[in-house]
This record gives sequence, structure tokens and C-alpha cells, in this order.
Amino acid sequence: MKKNIFTILSILSAFTLFAGGYKTTGVVDVSTNDTSMIFSYTKNKTPHFEYYGKKISNPKDFIGLRTLTPSEMGEENPLYSARGGKNYIEPALSVIHFDGDLNTELRFVDVKKSTSDNGNIETTTISLKDTKYNFLVDLIYTAHKKENVITQRAEITNNEDGDITLQNFASSYVSLRAKKYFLTHINGQWAYEANVSEDELTRGTKSIVSRKLVRTTLSENPAFMLALNTPRNERLGEVIAGALVWNGNYKIDFDYDDFMQLNIISGIAPTNYKLKKGEKFITPEMVLTYSANGSGQASRNLHDWARNYGIYKGNQQRPIILNCWEGTGFDVNESIMYEIIDDAAELGAEIYVMDDGWFGSEKFPRDNAKAGLGDWQINKRKFPNGIAPIADYTVKKGMRFGIWIEPEMANPNSEIAQKHPDWIVGAKGREKPTIRYQWLLDLSNPEVQDFVFGVFDSVLKMSKNITYIKWDANRHLEQIGSNFMPADEQERFYIKYVEGLNNVYKRIRAKYPDILVQACASGGGRIDYASLKYCEEVWGSDNTNPFCRLFIQYGESLFYPMKAIGAHVPKSGSRGIETSMKFRTDVAMMGRFGIEMRPKNLPPDEYKELKRAVGIYKRIRNIVQDGDMYRLISPFEDKNFAANMFVSKDKSKAVAFIFQHTFASVYYRPFIKLEGLDPNKKYKVVESNISGKSNAPIHNRIVSGEYLMNQGINNRFNKSFMSVMYEITEVK
Ligand code: DGJ
Repeated sequence: MKKNIFTILSILSAFTLFAGGYKTTGVVDVSTNDTSMIFSYTKNKTPHFEYYGKKISNPKDFIGLRTLTPSEMGEENPLYSARGGKNYIEPALSVIHFDGDLNTELRFVDVKKSTSDNGNIETTTISLKDTKYNFLVDLIYTAHKKENVITQRAEITNNEDGDITLQNFASSYVSLRAKKYFLTHINGQWAYEANVSEDELTRGTKSIVSRKLVRTTLSENPAFMLALNTPRNERLGEVIAGALVWNGNYKIDFDYDDFMQLNIISGIAPTNYKLKKGEKFITPEMVLTYSANGSGQASRNLHDWARNYGIYKGNQQRPIILNCWEGTGFDVNESIMYEIIDDAAELGAEIYVMDDGWFGSEKFPRDNAKAGLGDWQINKRKFPNGIAPIADYTVKKGMRFGIWIEPEMANPNSEIAQKHPDWIVGAKGREKPTIRYQWLLDLSNPEVQDFVFGVFDSVLKMSKNITYIKWDANRHLEQIGSNFMPADEQERFYIKYVEGLNNVYKRIRAKYPDILVQACASGGGRIDYASLKYCEEVWGSDNTNPFCRLFIQYGESLFYPMKAIGAHVPKSGSRGIETSMKFRTDVAMMGRFGIEMRPKNLPPDEYKELKRAVGIYKRIRNIVQDGDMYRLISPFEDKNFAANMFVSKDKSKAVAFIFQHTFASVYYRPFIKLEGLDPNKKYKVVESNISGKSNAPIHNRIVSGEYLMNQGINNRFNKSFMSVMYEITEVK
């Protein structure tokens, strides 16, 4: 009898242990050409995140399965983790409901599908509702079929009987199962952007976060790659990559949970956001891709998506720019501008950009960073005839004219700051901190939005020949406080600032669709897909040292296509190292090529070489800007070499750039295998961007794609900072 009771008890306990979990009754499939994201719901309409990975063509296989998770163990892989009920996983959503209830239990209501863009886009809307309140969440998944990208956002509606507070309100929630997880993300500082960090994740939560509001991406970029099971490899293995379309505070959590699953929760950084009765909050989009062929493919997916959908005029060719900043600093004036414009035209540049220093009132001229910011009138001392004749002259010389502004900021030493102290961000009764001697203007205030729009508008009115704007932002948020937002809504400022900025961008784009805009923020402080939605390009970094740029551009290329990254040739010695013009131009040609100097100061042979490189870039730019990028050797992994190549979509043309940044023995000449070519095509390989005879082991030869991709190319390098560039063209 004793034995029998024991048996019954153990059967019962096994039953309680294993009878839980959930059984799926319905399934929702969001898929692209090669990937699937699959969700399910149970009989009581609890929604779950089932799968993200390689395409599963029969999603119905997911129906009727029961997980083995014990029922006492909380809520396994929710679709969109909400605080409360049985769920204690890191929340994508936490809400204080109108009466103080902290729980939200989302249940599946329905799903709707629609297609657009000739079937390339399929949008799936999953509607969810709380079990107790009239609180609604729509999760919107947009599948971009041929790019293999799925974007996700949430639309949260408060139909309760009063105001509620959102604390977490993520754009996306993804739940993965693998044995190990390796996280890659890019971070750094001013002049040290996009440093690649890679780590295996251990149990707990790791976050990528910025609370700086402005120039957020100088320090952390809202993007990641996650390699499953084995460390990230360019060519092999499963990788999930993501980038958030938000230019303010963000947080991406990697939560290794109790079920040994990794949940990725991406969105605006949590804050107390009051959502008033009847209001709807729309989160930014999170862009996700999956690759079964390593991180190279993940990047190429994102680059394709970016060109087709993510970047303003993403498919348009990008011009070559000469910017004077590193040549002149604040010392811009009429005669120096004419001098540089002549050189820019002679070199073959297509846009000339006059940087900081051209404006300011008589009392506060912009002669350095300490004064004048915010007073957008032409400095008559430097430009007695105004800016228009200079813009006209640039156009006469066959180029476009561009100009620098920083409209969101003001120096305390400016008329505008003195006239509108209420426009300055900061708390009443506290000393407002400056960064680079400047304050931030309160873009949550519509009057300030009008002012910022007005700066752009009035600058363009100076001449019809101004057709490029470099929009800079040289500080971040310190000390929150808005005179415009009511006292009990101050925390809304973090979001209202960004919405204010994006409203201005929208107004600008409605009025000026064809003005080329660069988002710059002390270099690479605005490298994100929200800025790129309105701006054609970003400035890669204030660090133009070509050795450093090999690293910075590598990191940026993980998530952003190189056509969007300004990469300029500096004078030798920029940030401390002497390098040849050849090395500097080879590095800059891997991005949106440009020049950053006063060319008059160049030795004549370098001037000639620079002009040659401009000509070459015009020939190859379609391959670099719109082709597929292959990162052949990472400078972060190899002590001596770095290499990248770009291949046109039809595989008929390619360019390869190989660098020896640190000298290795002349006997150390590893073969570098090219990628992305057609093994069956014949290609002519020509060393390019050289003076005199080629020293390359392969030059002016016709070989097969098969040879180039399997045997590869070795190179003769005999010192540091040497490089070789090949133009590779199909021969029929
Ligand atoms: C920071 C930018 O990154 C530079 O390129 C330059 O425009 C300066 N600001 C001007 O102040």
C-alpha cells in the first residue's frame, strides 16, 4: 500500500511537472524569400514567439505541439513580453494602468495581412488586447521579401478610463533558442566610432543603451549582430542582425532567460511616458535580418534593405564632396573659399562644402566654438558680398555648393540664447551645463521647431545655388528640463525632442526634396536609420586618419551601406600618421568618397594623385555604392592586413582593396581569396590607383572567377601603410 501511494504521488508530481506548458492551436507566419518568423497562439489565445531563422515552408507544422515547460514556471516565450500575470521575463511592455494595476496580460484578437510594392512587402498586423482593460497593442511586422529583412513596431492604444503610464514600450521582441550566443556591437567615442566589441553572452541581461538623446551613436550604436552557437564568422553560421530606426535614447536588451532562451528586446529606452486616455503611441521600427551564411550576408541584407527602403533616396548615386573643415577650421572667408573652390573644381569634386565659421552677429561672430552659434546671419567681415556670389561661382565651376549649419544648438554667447532663455534645455534653478560651449534648444517646443526649420529655410534662401546641407550637432543632453512641457510630463521630453526633430526633417523634406543632407554629430554621432530616413548620408568620423578609418569604416559597414558613410581624404599626418596619398585615397574610396583639406597645401605630386583618384572613383563608384560588399579581412582580427571588396549585382565588375597597415616580413604574403564573383566568368584584373608600373603579382591578366575565389591574390608589400586596389572586369 505504501508503495502504491508512493507510485501515485510520483505519477501526480510528474503530471504537474509536465502537464503545463502550452499547446498551440493557431499559427502566424511572417516570411521572406529565405527566412521565417513564426508565432503561435493557444486555445485561450495566449500568443507566443515560436521561431526566427531559415525559411520553414510549412508553418502549420507548428500547430498542435505542446511544450514541456512546467506550468508553474512562468510564461514561456511570449510574443511580446508584458509585465505581470505569469510573466517575469524582461518586459517589452510594462504599463501602469489608469487605476494603478501593474499587470498586463495580452491575448490574441486577430491578424491581418496586406501586400505592397509589387508583392515585395507583406505587412502582418497582430492585434492583442489586455484581459482586463481596453488596452490594445498592435504588433506590425513588415517582411521585405527579397532583402530578407523583417521590420517590427508596436502601436499601443490607451482606451482605458484614464491616463496610463508606459514604462517599457519596445519596438520588437524576439525569442531565440541556441546553445550559445555571441554578441557583436559597435561602440566608441568621439573620433573612435564603431569599435567592434564581441562577447559570448552568459546568463543574465546585457544591454546596449544610450541616454544621451543627441549624438547617441558616438558611443553606442543601436544595432547588433548575434551569432548563434559559434562565434561570428563572415561566411559561416547563423547570424541575426538588427538596427533600430530611432535617433534618441534607446535600449536593446539581450536577456538570457530561465528557459535558456535568449530574448532580444529592442526599442526606445524605458522611461515613464504618460499615455493619455484615447492616445496611441507608435514605436519606431526595429529592422531585423537572419543569415545562415555568416555576418557578411547579414550586412548585405541590411545594405540592400537600406538602399531600397531605409535611406533617403537610397538608390541615388552619391556625389564626391570637398569639405574645407580640416583645411580651414573656423577661418573661412571669401578669398579662401574662392581658392578652395578653384581647387575642388580642378580636382573633379562635385560638391564644395563650406563648413563652420561663416555666420554670427557683429556682437557674437563665430570665430571659434565659443560664440555665435544660433545667430544665423552672414558674417559681413568674412563675406562682405554675402554667400550668394560664392555659391554662384561654385555652380559656374560645374559643382554644387553646400553649407554647414547646427540649428538645434546655441552658444550662451549668442543673441538667440539671450533673447529666448526659455528655449534652452535645462532645469529651472540649476546651472545649465555647456558642452563645446553650447546649449541644446528645446525641440519639444513647436516654436523652436519653427526656428530650426527657419534656419534651414533661410540659409537656403541665401542662394538658389545652395543644394547641400551639412547638419551638425555637437553636444548631447545633460540635465533634462523643458520649459515647454508641463511639470508632470517632463519625462515625455526624451521622446518629444526626437519627435520635434523628426517633424522638422519631415517639413524640410516636403519643401526641399532634392537638397542633399548630411547628418553629422561631432563626426559619427548620428549613424542610425532614423537620421538616414531623412538624410542621404552621415559623416563617418572626425577621425580621417586612414589607419583608424580602416577600423571605423569596418564597424560601420556591419550595419550601414558604405554609400551612406562620408569618407574623406585628409592631408598626410591627419591625427598623427604620415601616409601616402595612395593609401589615403584607397581607404576613402571604400565609402562615399570625398576630400577634407585645403588642397593648395598639397605637394604637387600628391595633388596629381588625388585628382587621379577622383577620376577612378567616378568610374567605380556604382560598384562601391550599389554593389555587394565583402569584408575579406577584418582589421580587428588580423595584425597586418585589412581587405574589402565590392561586386556589382550582376557580378560583371568588382573592386578589391587590400591594405597592409602594419609591416610584416616581405616573405609573409598570404593569398587573399576574393568573394562574390561568378566562378564561371573570366575577369580582367588590373591594378588601379597607381603611379608608374604596377608591382602587383597580378596585373592586366585575364583569369577565372574560380581562380580568384579559390587561389586568391597575394601582394608585394614591404612596409607599413601600403595598399593595392584592383579593378576586376568581366571579359566576354
Ligand atoms: C564637428 C564636425 O564633425 C566637423 O566635421 C566640423 O563640421 C565641426 N563640427 C565644425 O564645428
